Amino acid sequence: MSTPDVEATLSGHKRLERNVTLLGVATLMVVAIGGLVEIAPLFWIDNTLEKVEGMRPYTPLEQAGRDIYVREGCHTCHSQMIRPFRDEVERYGHYSLAAESMYDHPFQWGSKRTGPDLARVGGRYSDAWHVQHLVDPQSVVPESIMPSYGFLAKADIAVDDPAANLRALSRVGVPYTDKDIASAAQDLRAQADPEADTADLLQRYPKAQARDFDGDPTRVTEMDALVAYLQMLGTLVDVNSAAAQEKLATEKGR
Ligand code: HEC
Repeated sequence: MSTPDVEATLSGHKRLERNVTLLGVATLMVVAIGGLVEIAPLFWIDNTLEKVEGMRPYTPLEQAGRDIYVREGCHTCHSQMIRPFRDEVERYGHYSLAAESMYDHPFQWGSKRTGPDLARVGGRYSDAWHVQHLVDPQSVVPESIMPSYGFLAKADIAVDDPAANLRALSRVGVPYTDKDIASAAQDLRAQADPEADTADLLQRYPKAQARDFDGDPTRVTEMDALVAYLQMLGTLVDVNSAAAQEKLATEKGR
């Protein structure tokens, strides 16, 4: 910009700054544009969010584990979003897809990582490792600063009304069926009970893992629910094929 240009701009700005009405109108315009850019896409969120094969609503037990995860503040140290950077992908696995948290209310992305990201921790360790680690983190990772959650293994799972939880989630768009809601209380216990018949549960919730998680098959505890949730994280979507689809779609020039 040449000097006269700068002067012209400055004098225009001076006029704007000295005239309250003009400044008010200009401010409103700037804020309105900013607001539109941020808010408008939300009206088309259904189109924005790409559906990915394999993603399903959480089972009542996984959902209960998720509620314990939030209650205990695990999210204050752990994020659940692998960003598309090489260091993250090499450490944690394929970057997170938007659809992988589409049934999370509230989502657990986070940006605070005192501990590692947990978006793909499912299947990385055995159930026994998780129980041991939650009871006494320093016994498996000596330098760990994670607190102990041993009390979860002693607390029987107590969800007042599992059906009501699923119903509330279905109101905000999680596609639970009437059958899922009606069987919620039964499903909650069956998934962690090695004696239970889980054929129907597994059919409604593909890839659900049904077994005793906490090492005590006689009870269903909060530890069962939390470990069931952790073991599910990142295992529902076959990310490599989903990513392949995404790439294909991009190449077609959407
Ligand atoms: C004060 C921060 C803090 C809190 C709160 C916390 N963690 Fe951790 N967590 C850590 C740290 C640090 C590590 C890494 C060292 C280790 O493995 O113990 C870790 C590791 C883990 C790992 C192993 C991850 C991996 O890939 O090796 C899991 C699983 C885990 N935490 C689950 C939980 C759960 C579930 C809760 C809530 C019940 C929780 N954490 C609460 C700090 C925390």
